[in-house]
Amino acid sequence: MEDNSNRSSFSNRLGFVMAAAGSAVGLGNIWRFPYLAAKYGGGIFLLVYLVLVATFGYTMIMSETALGRMTKKSPVGAFAYFGDRFSLRFGGWINAIIPMLIVPYYSVIGGWVCKYLFAYMQGHVKQLASDTYFTSFIQNGISVELFFLLFIFLTLLIIYMGVQNGIEKVSKIMMPILVVLAFIIAGYSVTRPGAMAGVKYFLIPNFKDFSWMTVVTALGQMFYSLSIAMGILITFGSYMKKDVDIEKSTSQVEIFDTLIAILAGLMIIPAVFAFSGGDAASLGKGPSLMFITLPKVFASMGMGTFAGILFFLLVLLAALTSSIALAESAVSTFEDELGWNRKKSTLLMAAIMIVLGTLSSLGFGPLSSIHILGMDFLDFFDFLTNSVMMPVAAIAICLLILKNVTIEKMIAEVKSTSKFKRKKIYVFILKYLAIPFVAIILISSVLDVF
Ligand code: PFF
Repeated sequence: MEDNSNRSSFSNRLGFVMAAAGSAVGLGNIWRFPYLAAKYGGGIFLLVYLVLVATFGYTMIMSETALGRMTKKSPVGAFAYFGDRFSLRFGGWINAIIPMLIVPYYSVIGGWVCKYLFAYMQGHVKQLASDTYFTSFIQNGISVELFFLLFIFLTLLIIYMGVQNGIEKVSKIMMPILVVLAFIIAGYSVTRPGAMAGVKYFLIPNFKDFSWMTVVTALGQMFYSLSIAMGILITFGSYMKKDVDIEKSTSQVEIFDTLIAILAGLMIIPAVFAFSGGDAASLGKGPSLMFITLPKVFASMGMGTFAGILFFLLVLLAALTSSIALAESAVSTFEDELGWNRKKSTLLMAAIMIVLGTLSSLGFGPLSSIHILGMDFLDFFDFLTNSVMMPVAAIAICLLILKNVTIEKMIAEVKSTSKFKRKKIYVFILKYLAIPFVAIILISSVLDVF
């Protein structure tokens, strides 16, 4: 649908909520959130995360969406709208570049999901539950690379054909199924013998598990999961019509995204206690946690093959709607800023995804001897984007509002359609808290690796 400025727009609030939720709910919720929560303190991580979502998350998601709607531009254009200075160009580009660096390694994990889906379809439910299956898979360069390429192919095919309408329709059906299935698996998981200790670990904050890294990691995860500090919501806001309630629609996205993350935590963390003992080593497994723990749950339940197929199919879909949003935002930046056509822009994005993604995909096998700052490639790209670039992008957005746009104009944009119930909190965080807090996080996460 077109509005009078010739820019496409979502037809109504649901259109925005569906698109923003489709981009928000993905591997971040199902794969990344549980392993970080397991590693960084369980209940205390969850508590810090929830506080951050309700404060900084709320402020950023509102700001980006309103900025997009005000300027009707994607990030680079939205910053340039307020002047032609180096600082503004830098702010726009850092927001635009982040998705280009995330989507390659995101596709590697997407490839792992494809592999598991195929393995369940072949009925390998018992083999998948063994402790060594995952490790030997990711060490096998060829197999990992092929599944990674398959995932990229699926993402780019959909983007190139422009059939987002199709995928939106599919995700409208699949998302509710994912929620129902997540409830069933979580219900099964928390009732396994020994799982209660995991439920407690995940839901009850224990201050002795708190460390500063809990806050640092929770902030990065919040950016990642809500797709903020990476220009996406500026772009989505630019497609939002002038009569949509910004506060209500962004709150719905936040609530839905957080619900899925909590459900994923309940599927995975109690199972770590029930099946792997719940000691520090099994909780600290990192990126492999979902792939090691859930197969044990599936192998122990009736209809495990069916559950495995359905689960990995739904995760694949959630991952695809997110990788499409990530790659699409990069493609549209190339179209707008380099003046390239869609085909050329898609090809450039494909090249970036293949080159950078291959480093991550081979980083556990043939390239495993190479480390950057002590990290394998996948961890490095994850660290660079989440812990370094996103805080910088978030600071750039706050500075843009404080110095160029003005808070008054932001309030007017939001108020044109919403009551703006939490205006005081919004203004307070934006004016006094956001920049120093995010700067401290940024410095400490950088210091942590040196
Ligand atoms: N929010 C997504 C997730 O949690 O998996 C990741 C992501 C998707 C980030 C799309 C940015 C984006 F544009």
